[in-house]
Amino acid sequence: MASPAAAALVPYRILERKRAGLALREEEIRAVVTGSLRNWSDGQIGAFLMAAAIRGLDAAETRVLTEAMAQSGELWDLGAVLPRAIDKHSTGGVGDKVSMLLAPVIAACGLPVAKLTARGLGHTGGTADKLESVPGLVLDMDRDRCLRLLEQTGIAIGVPSASIAPADRRLYGLRNLTATVDCLPLVASSVLAKKLALGARSLVFDVKTGDGAFFSRLEDSVALAELLVSTAEELGRRAVAVVSDMSQPLGQWAGHACEVREVVECLRAGTGDARLLEVTTTLATRVAALAGIELDAARALDVLRSGKAWESFHAWAAAQGADPAWLDRPRFEIAPVELVAEAPVSGRLAAVATRELGMLLLEAGGGRKTAGALIDPAISLSYRVRLGDQVEAGEELARLYVQEGSEGLRVAFARCFRVETEGASPPVVHRVIGSRRAG
Ligand code: URA
Repeated sequence: MASPAAAALVPYRILERKRAGLALREEEIRAVVTGSLRNWSDGQIGAFLMAAAIRGLDAAETRVLTEAMAQSGELWDLGAVLPRAIDKHSTGGVGDKVSMLLAPVIAACGLPVAKLTARGLGHTGGTADKLESVPGLVLDMDRDRCLRLLEQTGIAIGVPSASIAPADRRLYGLRNLTATVDCLPLVASSVLAKKLALGARSLVFDVKTGDGAFFSRLEDSVALAELLVSTAEELGRRAVAVVSDMSQPLGQWAGHACEVREVVECLRAGTGDARLLEVTTTLATRVAALAGIELDAARALDVLRSGKAWESFHAWAAAQGADPAWLDRPRFEIAPVELVAEAPVSGRLAAVATRELGMLLLEAGGGRKTAGALIDPAISLSYRVRLGDQVEAGEELARLYVQEGSEGLRVAFARCFRVETEGASPPVVHRVIGSRRAG
């Protein structure tokens, strides 16, 4: 017969307690995580996820869930070798190319940046998929390669292997099937488990807010940012979160190849879209402070202007297998059929259906509806005006580049933009949360 302690850890008892709204004990949360890789059925995990989404997880449950999921696989402990290494996460959005720009800026300032980046699913693209527009670039990553790249070039960007936080992989897959994706503690523990497994000591989060974001309401984005920072700190990490705007696409382009092109052009020219630069420098200065480096926005922009960030990107991409001839003369494919959205009347750009723009890109082939589906990197959006800008009737607002156009797509694209007599320009940085310096 099972001992009373073991009996308390059977799935039924744990689920019953969570369903009743009780806080689970550490050993119960750990039993869920261990069970997810052993004997818990999809139904039992789904029931845990739904109970957690409805009843919530408190700070202690969230911390234990995060730690247990991190410990369910390899622990790279990069911070033990490179104490100043930083790791960055974005909740994603349309045109979000910040990681590709931030990493070389930060690395050129002497801070190693390690990042495991998921493939895109849904209306937001993934950095890994975008970087595959660079011929030759290899994104497979293990600990040795990651450390070698960090030591050689200060940057390592790859896709997580199955051995990083495997319990999160199981839970995340089932969250997609059980309508529990947008539960705050489940999101925070999922994001942080992978960061903990990598082991960088300083973490920076770009939590997007607005129509094109994972959480569109500012209060939800701020709550996620606070939970990420507080849980990371409880787990011994230094962390800062920037809540940044996603009520319109970020930068001048959205898509896969075209976003890498925008980043490469920005690095080569030493300048770029003002809002993109503001998010990037805000993240750079905040995470540098965490890691104990003096860096203000002016110096971050100098690093960009001086070409040092481009040198850093070039060295990193070459070390990760990019074709050096291509790096010297980068070329990107853009889809041939162009659909133009024009201002129907004169006025100010008042609203952009950013999520819908992401969906139109996806449906045209420039995104992934199901895990593992192929992406057409040439599907692109060029975004010319900004919220609050004055526009004249007939003026071009944005342009969609697809392989095959249709009247339906043209109409759906035009409907993404609203021009009215009034229209405000939202700030690009809404909040900064947590900023404990290196101690
Ligand atoms: N990214 C993750 O890794 N997990 C989530 O839950 C959401 C986004």
